[in-house]
Amino acid sequence: MTQSDDLMQLDSLWRGVHVATMKDGQYSTIENAAIGVRGGRIAWVGPADQLPRYQTQQEHNMAGCWVTPGLIDCHTHLVFGGNRAGEFEQRLNGVSYQDIAAQGGGIAASVSATRAASEADLVASSKRRLQSLMRDGVTTVEIKSGYGLSLESELKMLRVATTLGNELPVTIKRTCLAAHAMPPEFDDKDRYIDYLCHEVLPKVATLGMADAVDAFCEHIAFSPEQVERYFQTAGQLGLPVKLHAEQLSALGGSAMAARYQALSADHLEFITEDDVKAMASAGTVAVLLPGAFYTLKETQRPPMSLLREHGVKIAIATDANPGTSPALSLRLMMNMACTLFGMTPEEALAGTTLNAANALGMAHTHGSLEMGKVADFICWDVESPGELSYWLGGDLVKQRIQQGIISL
Ligand code: NIG
Ligand code: FE
Repeated sequence: MTQSDDLMQLDSLWRGVHVATMKDGQYSTIENAAIGVRGGRIAWVGPADQLPRYQTQQEHNMAGCWVTPGLIDCHTHLVFGGNRAGEFEQRLNGVSYQDIAAQGGGIAASVSATRAASEADLVASSKRRLQSLMRDGVTTVEIKSGYGLSLESELKMLRVATTLGNELPVTIKRTCLAAHAMPPEFDDKDRYIDYLCHEVLPKVATLGMADAVDAFCEHIAFSPEQVERYFQTAGQLGLPVKLHAEQLSALGGSAMAARYQALSADHLEFITEDDVKAMASAGTVAVLLPGAFYTLKETQRPPMSLLREHGVKIAIATDANPGTSPALSLRLMMNMACTLFGMTPEEALAGTTLNAANALGMAHTHGSLEMGKVADFICWDVESPGELSYWLGGDLVKQRIQQGIISL
């Protein structure tokens, strides 16, 4: 066959689909659409009857399924040793998360188990969790360190995250959460922050092991002032920041993070209007984590109306971790964001696509189906995009496309 210049050259074409493009965070529906892929990017998307003349290696007729961008889980602690099912039982008997932490459980328990685990064991256990997310429609996952709390073991966690991205068809973003809790070797929080600023962050940055830096700003973790020093170092090293803020109390961490142009501030149940305004003007994304809210039986919800009123972008993530959110379905989190926080299914889908991409600083290439963006998308066995937030579980993925290639 001779190639002609006036034919659009494609690697693959999907037809017989309805598309929720999520351009500008809206469904932006195109019914009876087609999607053309070339070189792992979207070469064309639009109504099938406007498709230019083309030549393609492969053509897939999907018989009317719905396509959305691949889901993006922008906040997880997916790599850890052991699990904390015992704490789940303690909490059911009335012991609080803070009490468990004070007794040496909580994050500290996962730190011991993660330090003790071999790198190969961490890869194996995390891979199973990652595959659950992928089977449910996720194509990009952020993974935090933070159960190592020493240079050596933080690097071990970040290497595991790197390996997962190399071994599976999924995009991994790695975040260094070394300021998650106090390690047993330190008894002074300022000294530990000094260690992170002088030894851990510079090495992580030099080795290119993280895409961003995160901290836990809370009474049981670090103060806004301590986190600020750590953010200053991250900034000097050219690493963007994010923050666990206002989860259990209002410390103003989210407003401080906004001053450092944080990509996101996450949790936010106790955020104030001033914090919301600071986030809005900095373009900091609000990442809401309904799995942690549910697991800890929180009662104070993030202030949806304030976030909407000030135009803060809202993302939803699993927060997958062994303590506060043993969640392995991002779609379930979308349902919980609707039921528990009053989000609409359209907002929930924006929260796991374009807004989640913004929370990872990758919205120029990911998060919506537009020409030139990376061809990560899901063909769903549903009759409307709202069903993605409606079902509790279920096997809805018909085809998963990662960088233009069908995988899974
Ligand atoms: O996002 N808030 C702090 N960090 C995690 C919990 C980690 C843990 O308990 O192991 C969170 O909820
Ligand atoms: Fe978290």
